[in-house]
Amino acid sequence: MTTIATPIKQEKSNGSFTDNNQTDKTMKALVYHGPGKKSWEDKPKPGIKEPTDAVVKILKTTICGTDLHIMKGDVPAVTDGRIIGHEGVGIIEEVGNAVSNFKKGDHVLISCITSCGKCEYCKKAMYSHCEKGGWILGNLIDGCQAEYVRIPYADNSLYPIPAGADEEALVMLSDILPTGFECGVLNGKVKPGDTIAIVGAGPIGMAALLTAQFFSPAEIIMIDLDDNRLNVSKTFGATNIINSSSENVIEKIMNLTNGKGVDTAIEAVGVAATFELCEGIVAAGGRIANIGVHGKPVTLHMETLWSRNITITTQLVDTSTTPMLFKTVQSKKIDPNKLITHHFRLDQVMEAYETFGNAGKEKALKVILTA
Ligand SMILES: NC(=O)c1ccc[n+]([C@@H]2O[C@H](COP(=O)([O-])OP(=O)(O)OC[C@H]3O[C@@H](n4cnc5c(N)ncnc54)[C@H](O)[C@@H]3O)[C@@H](O)[C@H]2O)c1
Ligand SMILES: [Zn+2]
Ligand SMILES: [Zn+2]
Repeated sequence: MTTIATPIKQEKSNGSFTDNNQTDKTMKALVYHGPGKKSWEDKPKPGIKEPTDAVVKILKTTICGTDLHIMKGDVPAVTDGRIIGHEGVGIIEEVGNAVSNFKKGDHVLISCITSCGKCEYCKKAMYSHCEKGGWILGNLIDGCQAEYVRIPYADNSLYPIPAGADEEALVMLSDILPTGFECGVLNGKVKPGDTIAIVGAGPIGMAALLTAQFFSPAEIIMIDLDDNRLNVSKTFGATNIINSSSENVIEKIMNLTNGKGVDTAIEAVGVAATFELCEGIVAAGGRIANIGVHGKPVTLHMETLWSRNITITTQLVDTSTTPMLFKTVQSKKIDPNKLITHHFRLDQVMEAYETFGNAGKEKALKVILTA
């Protein structure tokens, strides 16, 4: 990190002059203005509000499927004027005086989950339910699709990035890798030799596919409506793919498993049909691990499941496995770069939303926005 000793004059696009040593108090950010409305506009640059805060200058960020839900108005907690985004890497710009793990100039990974580290839930590593944090970034407070972001409880909510690390790959650690791993693979108790099915081959399903392979399941069956995503999943380690728009999934899975079903069914879509599909394909003694965000009720078929010794789990990602996953990325046990299909500059974020919002047509998985 180089510090600028003397202000350097720069010409702004409007012809006026400013210096670049922090006297400019505005920044650009992607702002939500109600369902279907967003803009890339000037916002005040965030500062330290609490001694436990850090302000991070964004280097790379991305768009999540959840941001698309927000844009549709599915997350009413997000109000007009909110800067959205909850994933990214950056450089510490400023820290509050209670922050002891980080200093100005440190490269950091931002977790989508904010953790105070002190409350009852944080003490149980259930950071998603932190009484002062949880999923607040780009939701209840301004988020990462901006030039700068304020991170509360920085000591617990940021991770240091060592020099030379692949920062694009690390962006996948802010949300999707811990989500696929914790809510899908760990809750689904994937074991060596198991047969598992992952319903949904979006970034989250793909993250479950990559991290399930830590445990060497014998068969990984991917199910989706999109042939491109299914074909990509084969290159990531899927042993079988099923397009549920043209094939009978239950019949095909029963054929593949001698009529038994799968040991673990991971739901990575978030609609009733896919959860109920998991109920139909889980083997006796098996597990359904739900990841998807559901907006509508689903039917629990107790008339068939009551006797089948199954377990159903749900979870909002805690990101408690981020340090471990960080090591697996650093050691190249997994390569999350595979999930990145498109690159944009941060100021092209509106275009990036178009691409990510038409993921099927654009063959998009994750987009990287570079400041
Ligand atoms: N539990 C958590 O903490 C958590 C965290 C992050 C995201 N999520 C949720 O995980 C889910 C997946 O996220 P994503 O970013 O991968 O979403 P995505 O929209 O990119 O991917 C979903 C995939 O499901 C497929 N699909 C849709 N309907 C289907 C159907 N009827 N049958 C089979 N496939 C179908 C789509 O083709 C797509 O490939 C979303 O609901 C998201 O909100 C949960
Ligand atoms: Zn997300
Ligand atoms: Zn807490």
